Amino acid sequence: MDFRGAHIISVKQFERADVDKLFSVADKMEPYAHREKITKILDGAILGNMFFEPSTRTRFSFGCAFNLLGGDVRETTDVKSSSISKGESLYDTARVISGYSDVIVMRHPQVGSVAEFSKASRVPVINGGDGSNEHPSQALLDLYTIKKELQSNNRDIDGMNIAMIGDLKHGRTVHSLSQLLMQYKNITITLISPKELCMPKDIVADLVTSGHKVTETEDMESGLNDNDTIYLTRIQEERFTTKLEADIYRGRFRLNQAIYTRNCQPNTVIMHPLPRDSREDANELDNDLNQHPNLAIFRQTDNGVLVRMALFALILDVTDRVDESANKVSWYTEGRF
Ligand code: CP
Repeated sequence: MDFRGAHIISVKQFERADVDKLFSVADKMEPYAHREKITKILDGAILGNMFFEPSTRTRFSFGCAFNLLGGDVRETTDVKSSSISKGESLYDTARVISGYSDVIVMRHPQVGSVAEFSKASRVPVINGGDGSNEHPSQALLDLYTIKKELQSNNRDIDGMNIAMIGDLKHGRTVHSLSQLLMQYKNITITLISPKELCMPKDIVADLVTSGHKVTETEDMESGLNDNDTIYLTRIQEERFTTKLEADIYRGRFRLNQAIYTRNCQPNTVIMHPLPRDSREDANELDNDLNQHPNLAIFRQTDNGVLVRMALFALILDVTDRVDESANKVSWYTEGRF
């Protein structure tokens, strides 16, 4: 794909070579993300960060990524504070905000809304999550994390074993991650969910057509065996008609230290897109694993900044000039703290 000026709506846009290119740029972003160097390559550029659903990581890390490249960020953080609440259409909003911004990130509860918005936008739009459909930047940072974690165990994405656990019906991160895995070879995928919350049939069929071995089960403990990576998700309460309906499934699948030790390989990497639901009746990923060296959830969130910096640099076509505009020493390494 040509990243320059592209909307990023779905991981289906990415071929394997595109993922490799993105990851190689993400690697180069490390000194900037770690404040060992500073760059002002996007000085004067504006990110329109439009979030019409709650978010901590995606909104903040896209904003930080843009700031770390020297750009400025303007935000809307809910529908109530936007003129969408007065009936303004996505078309009008896109026309207006794209006149104020150089790139836009948008999250919205409706499936397909970001694609619709992008058609009216005069600048590139990145999908920050559209309902239960897709969350492409999350899947890219998840795959980047899987690659890095497996490398330290002398394993690769090709040929790996992964289990995805939880609400696989509504979880957009597992939909996008599954689509990305279709670019790779010989993966063994175990899908662990209540039957009613299973992975959409078309995604399972496409994984099988891609040559992967897919098993669906409701038995979490047996499904945890022999995996390089386990990827947990919460019950997506906001996608159910009522809280009572979500309560039926909440707490059904939980991972804690005892269950992990009993069923997983010593090197099995533990991932979760976050937020994890730490309330007592849910708790799908227990705090007693917080100090476990294989818990990669906060390495995932750190990697999110690198991958989002790389997306901006590629879309705005500044990858070759980031280093040119860099100061070797930043305020951070000069020992301000
Ligand atoms: N993983 C993720 O999308 O988190 P937020 O909802 O906090 O952005």
